[in-house]
Amino acid sequence: MASAGTTRSSAVLRLLGWIARRFGGARTQGLSFGGSLSMLPDRSLFPLFRNGLDPVAEVGSLRERAPVSRLPVPVPIRVWLATGYEPVRQVLGSADGFSNDFGAFAARVGLTAAAEPGGLGMADPPMHTRLRRLIMPEFTMHRLARLQPRIETIVSDRLDAMARIDGPVDLLQEFALPVPALTICELLGVPYADRGLVQEFSAARFDLGGGAYAPLDAINESKAYLRNLVAAQRREPGDGLIGSLIRAHGDELDDQELAGLADGVLTGGLETSASMLALGALVLMTQPELAEPLRSGEPADALVEELLRYLTVVQVAFPRFSRVEVQIGGQQIPAGALVLVSLSGADRDEVLQGGYATEMERFDPARPATSHLAFGYGIHRCVGAELARIELRIAFPALARRFPSMRPAVPMAELDFRQTSIVYSAVKMPVLW
Ligand code: HEM
Repeated sequence: MASAGTTRSSAVLRLLGWIARRFGGARTQGLSFGGSLSMLPDRSLFPLFRNGLDPVAEVGSLRERAPVSRLPVPVPIRVWLATGYEPVRQVLGSADGFSNDFGAFAARVGLTAAAEPGGLGMADPPMHTRLRRLIMPEFTMHRLARLQPRIETIVSDRLDAMARIDGPVDLLQEFALPVPALTICELLGVPYADRGLVQEFSAARFDLGGGAYAPLDAINESKAYLRNLVAAQRREPGDGLIGSLIRAHGDELDDQELAGLADGVLTGGLETSASMLALGALVLMTQPELAEPLRSGEPADALVEELLRYLTVVQVAFPRFSRVEVQIGGQQIPAGALVLVSLSGADRDEVLQGGYATEMERFDPARPATSHLAFGYGIHRCVGAELARIELRIAFPALARRFPSMRPAVPMAELDFRQTSIVYSAVKMPVLW
């Protein structure tokens, strides 16, 4: 068992790893926080802790008492946390009041970081508007419909591969990770010969067991791969997103921007979808009656929406930085503060319950549709939301039909979850059928 010291330092490493990763994948060595963030105590990280599938009770009680509150951090940065549904929407919906530009914030508070441009999540308008407008056409329902048969084949191939393995199988490595990894390969236009490699570094970037450094190496490897792919497609554009962007906007985008966009898609779509597949399967295994309608051909749409809300695997959105003094949730937030929003906390807020009987802490796929925040809100709302829904709506019924008696191979209490991880998930998901 890890000592308190090890746990604390690994929590901090994960936070640093996450910020480095989100900040355009800057190498940890190139990133200096002047020691400040490494002083963050675990109690500042509590919005990332969970009790099995539920956010820790502390998040719920804070939401009731103070839906916006100051986070206790012993660093010269003012940090605020929003846990209430309305304040969270207000922060995410106010691009004028809040910036996503970590680089500008870092420079202001005396942190330095080797910045690499690219990606949408940490860009502000007008750059964000320009980049997002370029990739949105690749995510229309019309374009995504072309991917649907490919996703069906990917899912059924993975189920065939699982069926060939004896004994307990790690659902995460054998199914939940390869399905989104191969779907993103399809979306981006990664050549078939390279897909084994992409799967390898996708699995490695998910492996937080060894601390933040191993995943960071995998992330840098994937960025290098994507840069080479962009250079190759510049000469000969392929059928996927990279090739289409080069054909339609090749002269407006340089290679670094293209690789940054591709990496943003890989980073945004991989861990999130993998986690939803693994944890969603766990919910179905622990309440097998939920899978019954899927086996008899009922659409999975309502079930998937409630899983998205209930699990809200992206626990905290990208950090926001207040541009001006703002009032949110009854609190005066000064200009230049760092604001974290707890999506998993907000999605359990009782305002979402309306007049419905089941409280928000419980999973109930019969619940009327909610405007949950699992994909965020505002100008940074997930570009891949519809693609993720397609994957989940194909994968859960296929899994339920193929392995009707699937169950966890270990008791729930022995399942290991990724603590203090922005994208919550299990470390492994051993199953039997
Ligand atoms: C169930 C799966 C997914 C979940 C739960 C999820 C969740 C989110 C959330 C919460 C945000 C907003 C973060 C913020 O405002 O700070 C986001 C943004 C984003 N997501 Fe997803 N995502 C998923 C799947 C995908 C997929 C499949 C892709 C692409 C293939 C993708 C690409 C992106 C990108 C590029 C952004 C940044 C958008 C922007 O800043 O304008 N995501 N996602």
